[in-house]
Amino acid sequence: MKFTDSPVIELRVRDKLLALHQDNGSMHVGTSVWPCSLVLVKFAERWAHSSDPNPYAALLDFRNKRGIELGTGCGVAGMGLFLLGLYDVVLTDIPPVMPALKHNLKRNKPALGKALKNTVLCWNNPDQIKALNPPFDVVFATDVVYIEESVRHLLSAMATLVKPEGVVLLGYQVRSPEADKLFWELCDEAFHKEKVPHEHLHPDYAYEEADVFILRKKQNETKPNEENS
Ligand SMILES: C[S@@+](CC[C@H](N)C(=O)[O-])C[C@H]1O[C@@H](n2cnc3c(N)ncnc32)[C@H](O)[C@@H]1O
Repeated sequence: MKFTDSPVIELRVRDKLLALHQDNGSMHVGTSVWPCSLVLVKFAERWAHSSDPNPYAALLDFRNKRGIELGTGCGVAGMGLFLLGLYDVVLTDIPPVMPALKHNLKRNKPALGKALKNTVLCWNNPDQIKALNPPFDVVFATDVVYIEESVRHLLSAMATLVKPEGVVLLGYQVRSPEADKLFWELCDEAFHKEKVPHEHLHPDYAYEEADVFILRKKQNETKPNEENS
């Protein structure tokens, strides 16, 4: 499953069909649907209610958990994880992307059954982070590591937003070697990382360049932007 320029991308999540409207002609990358988001949602769907021996049963047991998505774009991952049981979820992005997000949330309200929470959150804005009343059980993001200058703020936001015993779920693709290198260097300061084996991804959605990572806070972690900045 690769990037597609179709104006509408359909994604079935359990018994619901999401229709994501994208505008690839806009100057904001968040108005497009990036395929890592589909990979993350379909990975979670595959294991969330699996009766097979399931290494992800606890991770994907979303009951009574609060979640937040960073850089949601058109809202695919947030809507998908909501349909998989993450009831209390807030989708966030920068101001210019909010109209595309709101449009998609409105179009998909019949499938979702309710209006999902959404708000502006710029990763370098501590007041916006604080206003969201962290910590959250689940912080998630897809295809958000592509600007080297933003990496430190992104990781700091993740570390602030997630509970000590919480989890960060990442749909990931290398977009910039520099951003990728810095992201994993700084990530190692605050988080343990686990890469989901490719054979555990959904076979119809997995592709070579896409990964899902599970990050868990290290004890006595430091926040990446509190050092060396
Ligand atoms: C490549 S898009 C991915 C969008 C969506 N997650 C997906 O997978 O379809 C990257 C997203 O990160 C958001 N973003 C980039 N820098 C940001 C920042 N500093 N604060 C908040 N969001 C940011 C962009 O607006 C965009 O929605």
